[in-house]
Amino acid sequence: MSGKIRKAVFPVGGLGTRFLPATKAMPKEMLPVVDKPLIQWAVEEAQAAGIEEFYFVTGRGKTAIEDHFDRSYELEQTLAAREKTELSNETIRLTESLGRVAYTRQPEPLGLGHAIWCARHLVGDEPFAVLLPDDLVLAERPCLTQMVESYGKTGGNMAAVMDVPKEHTNRYGILDIAGEDGPLVSVKGLVEKPDPSNAPSTLSIIGRYILQPQVFERLEDQKKGAGGEIQLTDAIADMIGETPFHGFRFEGRRFDCGDKIGFLEANIAFAHEREDMKEAVKKICREFS
Ligand code: G1P
Repeated sequence: MSGKIRKAVFPVGGLGTRFLPATKAMPKEMLPVVDKPLIQWAVEEAQAAGIEEFYFVTGRGKTAIEDHFDRSYELEQTLAAREKTELSNETIRLTESLGRVAYTRQPEPLGLGHAIWCARHLVGDEPFAVLLPDDLVLAERPCLTQMVESYGKTGGNMAAVMDVPKEHTNRYGILDIAGEDGPLVSVKGLVEKPDPSNAPSTLSIIGRYILQPQVFERLEDQKKGAGGEIQLTDAIADMIGETPFHGFRFEGRRFDCGDKIGFLEANIAFAHEREDMKEAVKKICREFS
């Protein structure tokens, strides 16, 4: 009923202050989980869900992301000369598999809603996905794939959600729940980063969305919300009544890679998934327990 989701927006303009000094000269989205940068995990999740066009909203100092998804002839030749053809082919495959890619800049860090709005001309008039690379989900079926499937039945706006400890509601967009139907949660409203004392629930949005293009109209007036930023949550909340919103309780484990401990956990969990690393990871964990 709701048509295919072909486009994805990746807001990657953030400064990454929580990871200084590591992120002084390197985008936080290039921090590796095992051997892939966060942004590549997000792009591969989008590809698995059928996304064909990839739009990055970047900022100053983010050119490493563009280079990462571009051909590197020098590297390819060096790898080939060293007979590391598999590695060389892998780097070529990554670029070639992407299809349509475009980068646009968010000139000022005015908030997530503003970053998404910066991609309006690229997205045009069709539903699209948004992936925040800080949020990494380990799942048997990738999180966005699960969402796209569910969205086929619901349409409207959708975000991946999970319960968080009550004291953490001031870090997330929080749902005011109207009803639940399996993994789908319908809402009366959404609140960005409420204080735990007046949070409507503990069900919080994580960085995966499917949105209707009308969200751009809501973002157009650039109204500031929580933290003085233009909030995506406010624009989606504004549309409820006209465009249904569903929270989707995904299957899998989410890691907050914008946080040092979350990032370490993700590295351990993803390395533990790899046959060539599993035993070594277990051994290290035992040593430090
Ligand atoms: C953003 C959103 C928030 C959402 C979160 C998920 O916040 O504004 O609603 O819950 O991402 O990671 P940020 O983490 O950018 O402050």
